[in-house]
Amino acid sequence: MNFPEKVRIVEVGPRDGLQNEPETVATETKLELIHRLADAGLPAVEATAFVSPKWVPQMADHETVLTGIRRRAGVAYPVLTPNMKGFDAAAAAGAEEVAVFGAASESFSKKNINCSIDESLERFRPVAEAARARGIRVRGYVSCVLGCPYEGTIEPAAVARVARALREMGCYEISLGDTIGTGTPLKAQRMIAAVAEQVPVEALAAHFHDTYGQALANLFAVLELGVATVDASVAGLGGCPYARGASGNVATEDVVYMLDGMGIASGVDLDAVAATGRWISAELGREPASKVGRALAAE
Ligand code: HMG
Ligand code: MG
Repeated sequence: MNFPEKVRIVEVGPRDGLQNEPETVATETKLELIHRLADAGLPAVEATAFVSPKWVPQMADHETVLTGIRRRAGVAYPVLTPNMKGFDAAAAAGAEEVAVFGAASESFSKKNINCSIDESLERFRPVAEAARARGIRVRGYVSCVLGCPYEGTIEPAAVARVARALREMGCYEISLGDTIGTGTPLKAQRMIAAVAEQVPVEALAAHFHDTYGQALANLFAVLELGVATVDASVAGLGGCPYARGASGNVATEDVVYMLDGMGIASGVDLDAVAATGRWISAELGREPASKVGRALAAE
């Protein structure tokens, strides 16, 4: 077994978690969420998405969110930028890290960002170049790495191809998204093994949604292969507007509890993140999806 000693958790709740909320969440609430998460010790808090408000209305306040953050030293606040229009707006609002997001499935690429995989890579290239010129870090996402809502099975080779292209254009890290949460542990390991032949495992992140309750098991499986960056969403918030039925990411509280129990350091304060999960869930009028969050509340 080859588990990492430390895991970096990238909190995606304010973006992936909230992007699919049907009611508009107040900008102040989003900012408070971001601040609480950074205060809980999360080293990266994905803050918003500079995407079209026609496509994702919930992220329409991206500029006010990014400029309103009271930045904590040492914390990264990446934002999604699908094209140069998004990048220019994000850079003008002070982004220090952006993320481009592609897919391993042609159909999902078309539904999510309205272009083919190869077209998307051509759109991301100038973003990566402009970012490099301005000293802005770029993260790359690949969606549908363990299944697609439109195409079903996705071959690991298709994931590896897109991951490699993103890496070659300068993404410092490639986050591999099980967008619809259909993956299972051995499948996740096979996918990581295939991608790690093209991109060093140190530069990979696991971004697993928990739709079928497999996310923690899948994470355990890929941690064993040396993956040491995990995306998670406080209270298990979320879903993707272009993947019907997809539920939230693995809950941050659940990941921290598992890592703590395995003796793997994350730097995140479990009680603080669980309290944040209960607070944002109450704001949204529901119970936290995180089992750990609910169990701690009952103690
Ligand atoms: P398009 O319609 O093909 O774009 O959308 P276009 O270039 O033809 O422009 C159409 C209009 O959009 C124009 O405005 C542009 O100015 C505007 P109009 O002239 O009609 O008024 N526009 C923009 N506005 C704001 N910001 C921009 C931008 N670009 C163009 N950046 C586009 C293409 C990519 C913009 C659109 O498809 C889009 O915004 N998609 C975003 C979808 C999205 O955010 N999905 C959720 C995030 S991905 C995800 O959740 C998966 C992930 O979590 C990993 C995983 O779980 O797998 C990352
Ligand atoms: Mg996601």
